[in-house]
Parts: sequence; structure tokens; C-alpha cells
Amino acid sequence: MVNVSRFGKKVAEGSGISRLMGDLGDALAESQNILMLGGGNPAHIPRVQEHFRESMLKLLENVGEFERAVGNYDPPQGNKEFIEAISGLLASEFGWDIESKNIALTNGSQAAFFILFNMFAGAFENGSKKKILFPLAPEYIGYCDVGLADDLFITNRPEIEHIEEHIFKYHVDFDRINVTDEIGAVCVSRPTNPTGNVLTDSEIEKLSDLALANDIPLIIDNAYGMPFPNIIFTKAKPLWNQHTVVCMSLSKLGLPATRTGIVIANEEIIAMVSQFNAVMNLAPGSMGAAITTDMVRSGEIIRLSRDVIRPFYEKKAGEAVKQLLEELDGVDFHIHKPEGTFFLWLWLKGLPITDQQLYQRLKKRGVLVVPGHYFFPGFKAEWKHKHECIRINYSQDKEIVSAGLKIIADEVKQAYKDD
Ligand SMILES: Cc1ncc(COP(=O)(O)O)c(C=O)c1O
Repeated sequence: MVNVSRFGKKVAEGSGISRLMGDLGDALAESQNILMLGGGNPAHIPRVQEHFRESMLKLLENVGEFERAVGNYDPPQGNKEFIEAISGLLASEFGWDIESKNIALTNGSQAAFFILFNMFAGAFENGSKKKILFPLAPEYIGYCDVGLADDLFITNRPEIEHIEEHIFKYHVDFDRINVTDEIGAVCVSRPTNPTGNVLTDSEIEKLSDLALANDIPLIIDNAYGMPFPNIIFTKAKPLWNQHTVVCMSLSKLGLPATRTGIVIANEEIIAMVSQFNAVMNLAPGSMGAAITTDMVRSGEIIRLSRDVIRPFYEKKAGEAVKQLLEELDGVDFHIHKPEGTFFLWLWLKGLPITDQQLYQRLKKRGVLVVPGHYFFPGFKAEWKHKHECIRINYSQDKEIVSAGLKIIADEVKQAYKDD
């Protein structure tokens, strides 16, 4: 066994999530016929991909442009023209008082969370230890293991609102939230992966007030939100101010392979993120910026998100919910109201087996989903609900999603019957 540090051991020993991702990858490699409703990949939408192709062709045709894009390091803050274009877009769309000094790029927003969480939590110079508070679980699986220190997260059980017989929505339970000196920052994904929840404007305002009152940042993970990729099906007001850090990404627009994350924050935080970039990567990658800068400048990225991407996923969400409502008839099931993202969160109340057992059974039948208990970073209490939910990605082709949902419904019914 190689002798490594505590941190090395923590990461290298493998987390639940890396085992799960390995398992999903192995299942895919073993069979061509697997129905992949498990990962977080966005769909390949032809009308969107055409834009990226055209943009790439332009880059190649204009002599010198391609060479500059691949032949130079950008500054640690990220590509200047792209940052200027993003700042112009956000100022004109939302009226935010924002300049280039308020934006830094990272290699995917996942890298931004690694930087931000370890900047605002962990050991402090005065000897205190701080944590990141997720006001509501379930929350994004990718946050779970980015802490350099152990035990970096605290989270809370949500309030559950039953909207219809089979549709529910989680809310932040503010009575449970206690922002002590131990909290270094508050973080929410909005829209939320895995549930498709969109925290209400009033919840976001209250969280912002709480953060301000405690002089800590509120981090809003806007990977699916406005103004791009705009995979959000309800009305919601975007928020940014000097104590809020908004994280965005080109991934869910359809460019996950370019690894482009966008951090919007006050000048001091942006300077620190740039320093992290310099140490970890010298500079963030340039290709995402090279492909999309013109689309950002012209506003095309907003039209594409509004007119193509959002309707594409909204239609799919509607079809998936309709099918589950029909096929799960007779089961005590509840679907989180799909307000954004491309996931359905299915709660099977009183499920006689665990979410993990259901995952295994579905895998045997060729359908991959993600067991719900992975989405509770920092949640230590025992709560049956954690083991009664699964996340379903509905972004694949209609036939694949439909065949997968049919098998899920069949296996779920069987589980209740066996009991
Ligand atoms: C809520 C959320 N945040 C952040 C990310 C990270 O995305 P990326 O690193 O590709 O920007 C994802 C990816 O699935 C996500 O779902």
C-alpha cells in the first residue's frame, strides 16, 4: 500500500459516489443495451449542436483564431473577451451591477465548488473550524467529497408540501436552520439536482438575509438556471449581490467536455479564485470561451436556451411524469414537482426494500438510475425517506426513457407485492 497523506487517503480510498460512478460505467461497458437513466449528462440536442459546430468552423476558418485559442494560456482569471461578454450579458439581462472583475472561470463548476468550499470551510487561523451549510437536503451528489478536511458539511431535513395526490415539493425548513459561528457559507443548487426543485424567491431572499446578517457568503449553484442553459420551468428571480456567489457552467448547455465553469462574486473572492486557478491549473481551459464568446456577445445563447433548450427538457419532463402517473397506479408514490433540471425525483413511500436494493434490481434488468441516499451530503440523522427515493435522468431519447420507466414501474410494483 502506497504511503499517502490523510487527504490522499480520503480521496484515493474512493467515496460512495466514485464507487457508484464506477459501477454505472462498468454496467454500460458490459452491455450495449443498458438504458442509461443514471448519469448527469445533458442531451445532444441537434439544433444546439449545430450552433457549436458552426462556431467551431468559424474559429478554424478565420486565420489565426484557432491558433490563438489553442496556442496561448489565458490569465488565471480566465479568457478576457469571454468574461467581458458574460458581464455585459448579465448586466443587460438582469440589471446586475457587474464588471469583469466580478467574474472568474474554472475548469468546470465542479472545480469552483472545490475552491469555494475549501476557502470558506475547514480550519481557520484563529483555531476555529467552519462548515458549509446546505439548508435543504436532498442536494447535489458532487458536493459530497470535495472537502480537504473531514466533516465539512451540515444539512437539514426539508419541509414537504403535498401539491397533488402524487406531486410534492420540498421547502427550506427555516425553523431547523441555525447559522452559528461554525458556518462559513451557505450553499444551494437552484434548480436543484437531484429533485428539479426551484427554491422560491422568498426562500432565496431569506437565505440571502441570513447570510448577510452572519457576514458569510450565500453560494447559489446556477448550473441549470438563468439566463443559460435556462432549464427552469417556473418563474424565478435570479439573485446576485456582493455577498452572493453565483456559479454557472457551459456543461448543461451541451458543452460538458469543454469544462467551463463561471464564478460571479465580489472582487475579493474573484481574486482568490484566480489565485487557486494559478496554483492548481495555471489557467482555466480556453475552448469553451472560444466556442461561445460570439454567442454570448450576440445574445444568441439566451435565445437558444429559451427557445430550444428549455422547451426540449420541459416536454420530456411532462412525458416522463405522465407515464409514471399511469404506470405506477396503485402505488403510494410521489414525484417532486419538476421545476427545472432534467431529473425526476421519485419518492416511493413505504418501499419495502432500500433504494440501493431497488438500484441493484433495476441494474439487473438493464436500467440505471441513482439511489436517493447519495444526495444527502452531511446529513447524519437516520431518516427512512433517504432510502425511499431514486433519481431518474429523462434527457435521453424518448424510446429509451419510456422503456426505462416501464421497467422501473414494473420492478417497484413487484417490490411492494413481494412484501
Ligand atoms: C447542480 C450541479 N452543479 C454543478 C455541476 C458540475 O458541473 P460542471 O463541473 O460540469 O460544470 C453539476 C453537474 O452535474 C450539477 O448537477
